[in-house]
Amino acid sequence: MQQPGRAAEIKANGIGKSFGSFRALDNLTLDIGRGEFLTLLGPSGSGKTTFLMILAGFVQPSEGRLFSDGTDITDRPAEQRAAGMVFQGYALFPHMSVEQNIAFPLKVRKKTAGEIKQRVGEMIERVGLKGHEKKLPAQLSGGQQQRVALARAWCSSRVCCSSTSRSRRWTRACAARCRPR
Ligand SMILES: Nc1ncnc2c1ncn2[C@@H]1O[C@H](COP(=O)(O)OP(=O)(O)O)[C@@H](O)[C@H]1O
Ligand SMILES: [Mg+2]
Repeated sequence: MQQPGRAAEIKANGIGKSFGSFRALDNLTLDIGRGEFLTLLGPSGSGKTTFLMILAGFVQPSEGRLFSDGTDITDRPAEQRAAGMVFQGYALFPHMSVEQNIAFPLKVRKKTAGEIKQRVGEMIERVGLKGHEKKLPAQLSGGQQQRVALARAWCSSRVCCSSTSRSRRWTRACAARCRPR
């Protein structure tokens, strides 16, 4: 729930999505406040992931507008949004090491080598993957892979979308880590 007196950082206004003739999402309107942790609950196939994909910029809505701090970002490409996504299957790059995976969104956003090194170091520390930096995803446990996905989503973003049906414990841990400090 949004805290009283705090401006909505993200506003979704009448968002809808059709895939051909199939209606996946209909007239979704909501506000997400700064620092707020929001869970979308709904039956399988109700459009949760579709909305997160729209929020992150990977799917274009059929109707409605999306605002970030009052700016219309509906047509802004994913790499120009401050949103990171932890995909249901993590979607780590299999040929990249832990640190290369985490650095990827920063490279796309053309951060300097110094900034990338510092930010990746911070993220690795925060998600408890020190000593695993050079490993490939296949050399990690499932939990470690989750943490790489979280660090990658989080390192360049203000909005962290987790498209996942994980345990309550994982969701809480994700929320705590995503909260601005
Ligand atoms: N690219 C797509 N093409 C066609 N149908 C899709 C596509 N993506 C999702 N859908 C359909 O839209 C509905 C919502 O999917 P989704 O947002 O993934 O649901 P969930 O709430 O389980 O995350 C589902 O019926 C799904 O089959
Ligand atoms: Mg889903």
